[in-house]
Amino acid sequence: MRTRVPVDLTGAAQTMLTTLYLKALDADFDRPVLGDRFAKDAAHLIDYDWHEIGITGRWAPLVTVRTAQYDIWTRQFLAVHQHATVLHIGCGLDSRVFRIDPDPRVQWYDIDYPAVVALRKKVFPPRPSYHLIAASATSPSWLHEIPADRPVLLLAEGVSMYLKQHEGVALLRRVVDRFPSGELQIDFFNWLGIRSQKAQTLVRRSGSTLHWAVNDPQDILRSVPGVRLLAAVTFFEASTFPRAPAGFRSMRTLLRTAPPVRKALQYHRYAFGPIQSPALSSPVEF
Ligand SMILES: C[S@@+](CC[C@H](N)C(=O)[O-])C[C@H]1O[C@@H](n2cnc3c(N)ncnc32)[C@H](O)[C@@H]1O
Repeated sequence: MRTRVPVDLTGAAQTMLTTLYLKALDADFDRPVLGDRFAKDAAHLIDYDWHEIGITGRWAPLVTVRTAQYDIWTRQFLAVHQHATVLHIGCGLDSRVFRIDPDPRVQWYDIDYPAVVALRKKVFPPRPSYHLIAASATSPSWLHEIPADRPVLLLAEGVSMYLKQHEGVALLRRVVDRFPSGELQIDFFNWLGIRSQKAQTLVRRSGSTLHWAVNDPQDILRSVPGVRLLAAVTFFEASTFPRAPAGFRSMRTLLRTAPPVRKALQYHRYAFGPIQSPALSSPVEF
């Protein structure tokens, strides 16, 4: 049996314990949304009192619906671009690279703060064409180290809200400027998601602060030249939402009348450069 790994994180870095925990709980459900056995194994390996998280498995779909949606979009991108580079920022302890198990021709970079990367190295094994970068995603220097000769997929799940708007916009612009073509797959909170941060257990307990609100894809189209929208859905309209239990699904009907609540969690997907993109429709009127 492997020795359990102690953990001592604060602030934004700590929030990834909650997303890991909810994915691990989901893996044990009769009808999981994500079914991530790697998350379950990782949570077992970490020496942490998970009750401290203060959230029950009932809320797991808030994370797993999003993760499952980005897994689908990642697979779609990699099905077309077998020689791609993936930049997965704010990876936390997410096991996407193991769930997707990309072709070794794909160069996959997981990027997070040094304390998170150090923990990740103790929890997950290395694999071919897989790289870890211990840095803030907003620092311009790490991007210079990455060869820019292939299409890129920038994946940022559950991270944008921890960045200041000017930092997030600068990061997206840097990626678009550096690579010949690619996609940006990134989720956002709208103004209500940011303003209600004190009511969010994950944020309050970690002592982190949320900054960047995006209300509409137009916010990104206006501030990041060269990108075009492929898809934008809310939590409730994600293609993976129907996998959530009936209790969650009934909320959708309830919230139809309150657009700011319905649009609090948004999953966006953009392309740039001469790239082959799947024909997608955006079911949400933003
Ligand atoms: C809510 S967790 C999400 C983790 C993972 N993406 C998931 O969905 O399970 C937020 C993650 O973003 C990371 N993060 C926040 N700000 C960051 C930054 N400036 N640079 C790198 N990582 C950052 C945190 O360390 C944490 O791992």
